[in-house]
Amino acid sequence: MISVLTDIALRNIGKIVGGYCKPYAFLTPCKSRLNSLSFCSKPTDTAPLTAMDLSDMRKKYKADDQCFEEDQLTSLDPIKQFGNWFDQATKCPEVGEANAMCIATASKDGRPSARMVLLKGFNHEGFRFFTNYESRKGEELESNPHACLVFYWEPLNRQVRIEGTVERIPYQSSCDYFHSRPKSSQIGAVVSRQSTMIPDRQYLRQKNAELEERYKATDVPMPDYWGGYIVKPHTVEFWQGQTNRLHDRIVFTRPKEGETGPGDMQHLAEGGWVYQRLAP
Ligand SMILES: Cc1cc2nc3c(=O)[nH]c(=O)nc-3n(C[C@H](O)[C@H](O)[C@H](O)COP(=O)(O)O)c2cc1C
Repeated sequence: MISVLTDIALRNIGKIVGGYCKPYAFLTPCKSRLNSLSFCSKPTDTAPLTAMDLSDMRKKYKADDQCFEEDQLTSLDPIKQFGNWFDQATKCPEVGEANAMCIATASKDGRPSARMVLLKGFNHEGFRFFTNYESRKGEELESNPHACLVFYWEPLNRQVRIEGTVERIPYQSSCDYFHSRPKSSQIGAVVSRQSTMIPDRQYLRQKNAELEERYKATDVPMPDYWGGYIVKPHTVEFWQGQTNRLHDRIVFTRPKEGETGPGDMQHLAEGGWVYQRLAP
């Protein structure tokens, strides 16, 4: 895998400087090491990429007697049900960071992007996380305030997907959280104009050192480009994996305006939600 990726990287470097042999000139210090790792085995742009056959990669999930049926919902309130699964994830020693979630956003013209962030709180209003408002995700959320969150707790064979509309949280709530963080994290947030181009790592080190000096004896002011968002859910899906691929999917949705009562195959839940089962 490494060799394939490095090969792609080297071929792209070759394209940038206009020839495949030339780039080795500026790679000289590493060349012998790279060669010894056989990273440079494809000499021309037309060499075929070694195919990675992953067709046998699969893990066992749950057995049929451990399936997730409707009567195992601990609550018909999806936020409470999320709380139950989240609690189990935090107590599972094999789950490294239960609050790590993938958040997908999209530009106004519908081009998606996704990345991991940390969930920093949830309640019936929604799911909160913190970031830089001028980052790629920030700009996408400002122009298209919809997001999708995905948690995957692999040792439990569980996934939760949450879709909703997004709003900035109040300034004071962001400030309170900002100042509850270690000072080094506060400075880090000021240093990093997230998602912008920078010349090198040294640039960050230097800026960090300058700010550590500047705020040695004082509080770090929260930058106005930093703060929290809340994802207000309209859909919450609970997925549990089965070895035989007959996975369980129970989805809670909020009926759209004008929709009355649960539809066909839907069931009434709590707090204005309905739920249904989807085919895996
Ligand atoms: C486990 C994990 C947790 C992260 N938590 C955050 C977070 O809470 N906030 C944040 O802005 N970036 C976080 N990041 C970094 C983001 O994934 C991402 O690199 C960054 O926010 C820039 O994304 P963007 O350019 O798409 O806006 C985290 C990354 C990982 C792997």
